[in-house]
Amino acid sequence: MANIFPRWSNLLPLKIAVCAGSVAAGVALAFSYYATPKALNVGYQPAQPIPFSHKIHVDQLGLDCRYCHSFVDVSGHSNVPTGNTCWNCHQHVQRDSPKLAPLHRSMDPNFPGYDGKPIEWVRIHKAPDYVYFNHSAHVNRGISCQSCHGDVNKMPLVWRTNPMHMSWCLDCHRAPEKYIRPVEEIYNFDYKPPKDQIAFGKELVKKYNVQVKQLTDCSICHR
Ligand code: HEC
Ligand code: HEC
Ligand code: HEC
Ligand code: HEC
Ligand code: HEC
Repeated sequence: MANIFPRWSNLLPLKIAVCAGSVAAGVALAFSYYATPKALNVGYQPAQPIPFSHKIHVDQLGLDCRYCHSFVDVSGHSNVPTGNTCWNCHQHVQRDSPKLAPLHRSMDPNFPGYDGKPIEWVRIHKAPDYVYFNHSAHVNRGISCQSCHGDVNKMPLVWRTNPMHMSWCLDCHRAPEKYIRPVEEIYNFDYKPPKDQIAFGKELVKKYNVQVKQLTDCSICHR
């Protein structure tokens, strides 16, 4: 290591402190970089076994989110569809597309290499285990997928648009009137909020009986 200290500053303890400090900082940085689950990073867009495009299926073909994520409004967990859902169409459509080979391997006993195993999609959004989250509670009270997942309908491959840190959850929990919309509009990604969103939002908060005061209690998310 080059001697970055002038000769006259023969202050060994200081040198040691500086070096130790920078090593510690480096270790801390590396640790926080590698220890941050990828699924917490905004922009995270992993390759998927099949390059499934929401832009084609939602924006162009007009499929509703619930056609595939069929539990999102009835359960805490939003499911990702099984191969059967794709097979409904793709046993007829785009049969020869090489992109769909993993689907054929999973669904089509006549396909060379058929193994019948489910497609292993790479998960993009994941809350830590100590956080409780519930999809249906949100979508049935006027909080759209779009507010949390961004314009998925336009994505050729899903990426993460929000950090989903605690501060982000709380930003909305403190003032849901900023984002709430009529429940009929939850799956409408062309929805435009009205100019007087805050006043309108306050009405909806009342109408849907959202208990805003309790939304910042630690115990609703950390049970
Ligand atoms: C034709 C079926 C289909 C439709 C319709 C569909 N999705 Fe998906 N969605 C999938 C599949 C398959 C995946 C897993 C692969 C991926 O992440 O792209 C997925 C993944 C996602 C993910 C990422 C999940 C994760 O790993 O965190 C989100 C968010 C999502 N969809 C939201 C939506 C929304 C919002 C709509 C409606 C606008 C919608 N999807 C409509 C099939 C569908
Ligand atoms: C309602 C019918 C329907 C369902 C359900 C459906 N698709 Fe499709 N998919 C289509 C159609 C139609 C196209 C062709 C669109 C075009 O060419 O513009 C397509 C195109 C694709 C392509 C592009 C193929 C290529 O070579 O460009 C892929 C990949 C794909 N779908 C995967 C899936 C997967 C995976 C699922 C299940 C999660 C699924 N699709 C569910 C109708 C469907
Ligand atoms: C209030 C914010 C919020 C809303 C609204 C929301 N999501 Fe999510 N979504 C999340 C969070 C947070 C996760 C991670 C949850 C977890 O790890 O349990 C997630 C995960 C997912 C996943 C991945 C589940 C898995 O097991 O792979 C899918 C798919 C999904 N959401 C689809 C949707 C769809 C479709 C809608 C609208 C109908 C929607 N979400 C509305 C916040 C939201
Ligand atoms: C865009 C607004 C918005 C965002 C973002 C949001 N929430 Fe909520 N959340 C709400 C509203 C509105 C309710 C009230 C629903 C009700 O009254 O049942 C709620 C309710 C809840 C509840 C109580 C539901 C139940 O089943 O008891 C939990 C837990 C919760 N949110 C967790 C989270 C977590 C964790 C995040 C971040 C990952 C998050 N929320 C992000 C708006 C939001
Ligand atoms: C609306 C849901 C929500 C509420 C309410 C909430 N938290 Fe969290 N909390 C989260 C989420 C989501 C994470 C993990 C994501 C992140 O911040 O990286 C988290 C992480 C944490 C962590 C881990 C350290 C960290 O910041 O990463 C602590 C400690 C914590 N919360 C304490 C609290 C306390 C104390 C309260 C009450 C004052 C509280 N939380 C209220 C959602 C919530």
